[in-house]
Amino acid sequence: MKKSLLAVFLASTVSLVPLAYADAKRGEALFNDEKATKCIGCHRFGQAMVGPDLAGVSQRHTRSWIVRWLINAPATWNAKDPESEELRKRVKKKKVPVPAHAPPALTRQQVQDITDYLMTK
Ligand code: HEC
Repeated sequence: MKKSLLAVFLASTVSLVPLAYADAKRGEALFNDEKATKCIGCHRFGQAMVGPDLAGVSQRHTRSWIVRWLINAPATWNAKDPESEELRKRVKKKKVPVPAHAPPALTRQQVQDITDYLMTK
């Protein structure tokens, strides 16, 4: 009896772990995966391409802004927060950038991992 309760407890603990866990290494691989995310097709660190140079991106943005951007770029673009305003000014576009920012749909885990990677930049 005691043993099986322990097993249930351990199983429930283990299943909670992945939700709270993001990984910059996995994010780096995703960022560089031309097929899965396409980020590298438009972004580099230290060079502007179709998208802005992402060098120093963690200085310009908070973690939560990047998460919002990757989940819904058009809505984030239109947001009234200072980070979105600064981006609009910097890239000198007034309209919603569709389809400029066009990574494929990402899972929540992918968004978290890529964001962790960007926060190291
Ligand atoms: C088709 C090209 C394209 C793809 C693919 C793309 N981006 Fe972008 N990204 C842009 C452009 C262009 C902007 C600037 C805003 C705009 O005009 O849409 C931008 C802006 C950003 C910004 C804000 C940059 C800053 O300096 O403030 C981040 C962060 C970002 N992208 C991350 C990503 C990540 C991560 C991926 C992959 C999941 C990705 N982008 C895929 C084109 C792209």
